[in-house]
Amino acid sequence: MNPTALPTSSVFTAPAAEQELIASLPTDFRWGVATSAYQIEGAIDVDGRTPSIWDTYCRVPGAIDNGDTGDIACEHYTRMPEDVALIKDLGLDTYRFSVSWSRVQPHGTGPVNPAGIGFYDRLVDELLAQGIDPWVTLYHWDLPQELEDAGGWPARDTAYRFADYSMLVFDALSDRVDTWTTLNEPWCSAMLGYAYGVHAPGRKEYPAAIAAIHHLLLGHGLATERMREAATRPIDIGITLNAATAYPASDAEPDLEAARRADGMGARIYLDPLVNGHYPADVIADLAAEGIELPVKDGDLATISAPIDVLGINYYFSQKFTGFDEDGRTVGDDGLPISRTLPLDRPRTAMDWEIVPEGFTDLLVRISRDYPGLPMVITENGSAFADVPDENGYVSDEGRTAYFASHLAAVASAIQQGADIRGYLAWSLLDNFEWAYGYDKRFGIVRVDYETQTRTPKQSALYLREVAHRHRNR
Ligand code: NOJ
Repeated sequence: MNPTALPTSSVFTAPAAEQELIASLPTDFRWGVATSAYQIEGAIDVDGRTPSIWDTYCRVPGAIDNGDTGDIACEHYTRMPEDVALIKDLGLDTYRFSVSWSRVQPHGTGPVNPAGIGFYDRLVDELLAQGIDPWVTLYHWDLPQELEDAGGWPARDTAYRFADYSMLVFDALSDRVDTWTTLNEPWCSAMLGYAYGVHAPGRKEYPAAIAAIHHLLLGHGLATERMREAATRPIDIGITLNAATAYPASDAEPDLEAARRADGMGARIYLDPLVNGHYPADVIADLAAEGIELPVKDGDLATISAPIDVLGINYYFSQKFTGFDEDGRTVGDDGLPISRTLPLDRPRTAMDWEIVPEGFTDLLVRISRDYPGLPMVITENGSAFADVPDENGYVSDEGRTAYFASHLAAVASAIQQGADIRGYLAWSLLDNFEWAYGYDKRFGIVRVDYETQTRTPKQSALYLREVAHRHRNR
């Protein structure tokens, strides 16, 4: 990018009430941006990398819109210095990226692959040289295929493999990286991957998905314990959860029950064991009613609840739940309670997700109340819109910019209500491979022209640059 070619201002004015809230964010707030390995790197078969479950899944006919794959993606593997320069030009202080397990430990077991870890080594050095704080996510959904062939996350052994892999990365980078996230959105790995089958590895086995939840959490705990033990200087370790507010459609008992269930499986089944060392009793009972048990062994919960320093929250939207079907029944043909979503009647993004900033505030306030003492960082927040570039490739993405403003205001409002939130990382630096939606759905604050791999910051990038700058210079 040539920054001088950029418009100097985002030409965006947030509503006064939002501006006021955003101005109240703490002065030492982190401002950053996030990506993940498979979504941007490309270079899937170089330097010893082996296939991950996403390489395999992308080859299943019909699995990904347009038959897209991560084969090339944003060519970040070769364009990394240019991308780091973009972050620097945008004046953001933190970059959260994920490490590809298949690069670092190609068979999911065994020694480190020097060429694979070498890429992240250079990335960390480049970030530090530009004054940007590196934030490593160890697992963002790309399990080595060989480990899936051995059972994947439903198999207990995968948790131990994850801890071993984590230590390879930790040993290589922890002299320079202060902040570590074990897992990104384990709900997605477990439920989208093993229950609904819409993410890799594409399995539709509900009991296996429940086992995957426990083994993901166990992997997090094992890795956390080992990293903590090995650390020779203060480091922050955490996990990133995607959570939302589950609003009941009414005060009617079945609606309250549907919202309780959604919250139980969406948030509390992760938060309770992580923070309090036990699974929520109501969720255990719901699962038992379906004949499913979490595969907990002695000592697992102590491991899973190993203390963490930061809870990462990824937020995109909230939903309203009802326990009635269209005919007013509360129990389905399968004998299970009805639970479905109803529209909140809000504008939607290109993902068809409703825009619900107050759901963000409600979520953050509620987590800080129910799980006190845990600092949070927003590790992702953002939106996809159907961007239209002008002749210079510049996108006036008013919708995305307004989304950032309203959600930053929502974070500020949560802080005013007592939530301990230390920073905000926008999703995403670049337009990228949006999983089952392929490249059509663009979340970037920087446009990527996939024909030429040209990067052009959008209006939303300039807005975030302004907000971060104004903030720092208050
Ligand atoms: C959360 C995931 O972590 C990220 O990979 C994804 O692109 C965004 N949600 C948007 O769907």
